[in-house]
Amino acid sequence: MFIKTNPIQFTGRHLTKSHTRQSSSRQKRSQALLCPTLIALAVTSLFSANVFAKTVTVSSPNQQIQISLSDDTGRPEYKIDFHGKTVIEPSRLGLVFQSLGELGQGLQIKSSEKKSADDKWQQPWGEQEWIRDQHNQLTAVLSNSKVQLEVEFKAFDDGIGFRYHLAQQATLPANSPLSITDELTEFNVGQADKATAWWIPARGWNRYEYLYRTTALKEVDRVHTPFTFKLADGTHLSIHEAALVDFAAMTLDQHRDGKLKADLTPWSDGIRVKTQVGFYTPWRTIQIADNATGLLNSHLILNLNEPNKLGDVTWVKPGKYVGIWWGMHLNENTWGSGPTHGATTSETERYMDFAAKYQFDGVLVEGWNEGWDGDWFHNGDQFSFTKAYADFDLPAITAYGAKKGVRLIGHHETAGSVTHYRDHMADAFALYEKHGVTQVKTGYVADGGQIKRIDDKGITRHEWHDGQFMVGEYLHSVTEAAKHHISINSHEPIKDTGLRRTYPNWISREGARGQEYNAWGSPPNSPEHTAMLPFTRMLSGPMDFTPGIFDLAPKGLDAQNRVQTTLTKQLALYVVLYSPIQMAADLPRNYEKHLDAFQFIRDVPTDWYQSVALAGEVGDYVVFARQAKDQGDWYLGALTDETARKVTVKLDFLSPNKRYQAQIYRDGAKADWKTNPYDYVIETKEVSAQDSLNLVLASSGGTAIRFKAL
Ligand code: NOJ
Ligand code: CA
Repeated sequence: MFIKTNPIQFTGRHLTKSHTRQSSSRQKRSQALLCPTLIALAVTSLFSANVFAKTVTVSSPNQQIQISLSDDTGRPEYKIDFHGKTVIEPSRLGLVFQSLGELGQGLQIKSSEKKSADDKWQQPWGEQEWIRDQHNQLTAVLSNSKVQLEVEFKAFDDGIGFRYHLAQQATLPANSPLSITDELTEFNVGQADKATAWWIPARGWNRYEYLYRTTALKEVDRVHTPFTFKLADGTHLSIHEAALVDFAAMTLDQHRDGKLKADLTPWSDGIRVKTQVGFYTPWRTIQIADNATGLLNSHLILNLNEPNKLGDVTWVKPGKYVGIWWGMHLNENTWGSGPTHGATTSETERYMDFAAKYQFDGVLVEGWNEGWDGDWFHNGDQFSFTKAYADFDLPAITAYGAKKGVRLIGHHETAGSVTHYRDHMADAFALYEKHGVTQVKTGYVADGGQIKRIDDKGITRHEWHDGQFMVGEYLHSVTEAAKHHISINSHEPIKDTGLRRTYPNWISREGARGQEYNAWGSPPNSPEHTAMLPFTRMLSGPMDFTPGIFDLAPKGLDAQNRVQTTLTKQLALYVVLYSPIQMAADLPRNYEKHLDAFQFIRDVPTDWYQSVALAGEVGDYVVFARQAKDQGDWYLGALTDETARKVTVKLDFLSPNKRYQAQIYRDGAKADWKTNPYDYVIETKEVSAQDSLNLVLASSGGTAIRFKAL
């Protein structure tokens, strides 16, 4: 018998006989030898069919996290202990259906089964090339007299995940339609009294684009995930979800002190999820760590996603780009036609010359297509995705780029008119494919935060960007693009839940306040914003933040709209805010004024062999080190909020027997984001793994280092 350890390959079959039979350890050893990616496998399958059980447990491989599932109180509840202390008190499980009523109260544990896996898998691109998936699994069948609901738990050393599965059964034929009206899952935080939380509100008008708030956990209302909080004893937790496919996003609502309940984003008709018998929910996840940096070094979300479904993805290319973009946000150019139209043939060729000179891979051009004139924000159905403005010659531009080794990066703004976009998507991608465009940035800005859908009766419906309908639309754009070997960078996206593992052409996304807020945001991003993102939004995956603004205050240091960082903090963002595609977002003329500092942006890779978070506190500061994919050079990024601070970092991540030239880009002695953001020093030092470095970070400052292997 061959048992695969991959969690997804058990999907829908894990309770069948062949997968629950015990195999001898000798058999298992020979299976491990047969499968090169299998590093270890232990199956301790215990299928206690029809045996009534009150409490069943499963622990993480290092035994530090324990999940207990119990039906003692007449309904299923789970509890989580970390280092022997309860971090999630008994919390409800279950779902409510329109036709079946509640599957929660009255459900009892009918049987349970345990499995273990230890595997590793390779990312085609990423912050870490090889990822270990080591976990113990518990699958329990919950039932009342009529219906069975399964719940699968996985315990990892860095947290837990669980999901529900409603399988076909005598009373429920396969694929019969079902409407979910509520999810009963709770996260009942232990030690909630003194817990601190970092959060953004859910179901607001601005999707995920808010500054994070720091409050007592008790003050939290309805929030988005990843939702990160810290207990009094320093334990850090983050609740999120993995593999959000064909389901509504889970937001959290605190309905009693410390009790957070799943609150699925509804359709416009109030139903939360329209599905059928046989469905699985996404994984509900809780990352758990001793400290803030522990959260950053977790791969739990990716491990709970299915493997690559696209096959050969060598056509998906990480890289760096510049673009006709910031000029529009600064009001120097327009998206629409006119004397300052940004997307002209000559301007694009000028950007392509700049990109070629400094070895960038691509040039993004926004405002190239018809539909931007007038109030485009409210007229998304006027966009053409195939007709360029007269002053933008797509074939000539792409041919020019091909000669220079620079790709045009495409752009599709929908302004939330998704039915219109869907109707034209195939032609839009075909046109780009024909001209060698392999990456497209999409946009879903929408008034009031809601998306316009025309239903099959022709009636306009307004749907949340994170409801089930839009979850499907975003993924549809990604799978359609894949047919044309195009990668997608979604702006105003659905939150990331690790689907880049399954669809590696979903190369990046926005999903938080990005750089653009510094041009026109009221207020712009605060000094702490980028010290907050790694511990919150970015636990879910890459972000197209678009760093690298060098003219930090085009309207003067005292203007409200300016970048609230020092110049070297902009450099640190390339290492701190992971994305396989990174923009150098400023205008070429501003880079030409600081070519010495620009060198770091030219050097820094966007695809890594490994990454390690070295230090940090949520919203205060953070230090990351990442090793380039060829396993040669290392890069370090450190940044702080408004508080200037010194951080000492050991260089023991460097290869032990090598010497490195540290090329250090740091704040000068008088640097300060408010008054003196351009005071920076570039210096070199020879270092090895035995050394430490004292990083001196100015107020909203940063340090960026390339460790060049000698
Ligand atoms: C919002 C995106 O985040 C931004 O980058 C883009 O320039 C505008 N939409 C226009 O599409
Ligand atoms: Ca945006």
